[in-house]
Amino acid sequence: MRRILLLGGSGFVGRALLAELMRRPASAEFSITVPTRRRERAKDLTVLPNVELVEADVHDAATLARLMVGQDAVVNLIGILHDGEGEPYGPGFARVHVDLPRKIAVAAKAAGVDRVLHVSALKAAADAPSDYLRSKAAGEATLREAGLEPTIFQPTVIFGAGDAFLNLFARLARIAPFFPLASPQARFQPVWVGDVAASLADSLWHPESRSQTYALCGPRQYTLAELVAYAAAVSGRPRPIVSLPAAAAWWQARLLEFLPNPPLTRDNLRSMQVASVCGEHACLPFGRVATPLEAIAPDYLACPRQ
Ligand SMILES: NC(=O)c1ccc[n+]([C@@H]2O[C@H](COP(=O)([O-])OP(=O)(O)OC[C@H]3O[C@@H](n4cnc5c(N)ncnc54)[C@H](OP(=O)(O)O)[C@@H]3O)[C@@H](O)[C@H]2O)c1
Repeated sequence: MRRILLLGGSGFVGRALLAELMRRPASAEFSITVPTRRRERAKDLTVLPNVELVEADVHDAATLARLMVGQDAVVNLIGILHDGEGEPYGPGFARVHVDLPRKIAVAAKAAGVDRVLHVSALKAAADAPSDYLRSKAAGEATLREAGLEPTIFQPTVIFGAGDAFLNLFARLARIAPFFPLASPQARFQPVWVGDVAASLADSLWHPESRSQTYALCGPRQYTLAELVAYAAAVSGRPRPIVSLPAAAAWWQARLLEFLPNPPLTRDNLRSMQVASVCGEHACLPFGRVATPLEAIAPDYLACPRQ
């Protein structure tokens, strides 16, 4: 496995995967191509050996076809969390979670790239309550139906330095005297970004992982309220949590949707109706032992990013 096309490599998981690949003994032999919409924003990646950062529109079929030529594997980490409302899901979800995997499948087949890794989401299902989870399921189906034997990863919420989850609560704790929290009893089993990256990297060298779907979770389940309280306390600003009734939560999400990068949408509320957990004795693939949240989060929550 030498030449890897890493779609979404400039993001949170992508950067962890690049770091993980650089640590591997065979790293000197890798050649990793990372397309980005804005090279300027990700230019720190250019210092990595064997990584080529290219500004490209991966939604353009011809561009994707060109990027795919000569690759041994393609890893798709491109995903979005927010979109406008729509049927069967919003236009952004359709474009990013469904159309893009379809284009990846076409380009990979044409270029003879027969190793495809794709990151979806835990509890993605055609009958899931949210657009996000339904569109993720449709993207998985597209890749499977293309006959590419994709390896699909379904992480629950991912934590780690630079995450958009625990860091958000730590940042909010700086300005809010209390947390008016929607869905406080929603359940998660957060998984460390380093474990996600290691599982993806392992899979590249495990041919038996073709056509497999791996749920990725950490060792413990928490309610959203527990996670918010933990992030606030560890960042040095413990805050009381006020549970919002369903109607107030809906209005909170509706109003936050007017922000350019909303911390919560009505679709997120619908996603949280499904417990994002794997079970008490969940294992990571390839014999890995999941890292506890408490072993990692204090290191970065104490000094959240601006
Ligand atoms: N983070 C989590 O807690 C979590 C949980 C479950 C599943 N996942 C899934 O895991 C994958 C990786 O997540 P992540 O947290 O690393 O995401 P991320 O940090 O937002 O990174 C995603 C990358 O995809 C690219 N991208 C985003 N929107 C795009 C668009 N419309 N068109 C083309 N490229 C686009 C961006 O690259 P440029 O800006 O450089 O173009 C970005 O660096 C996603 O599929 C996500 O849905 C994440």
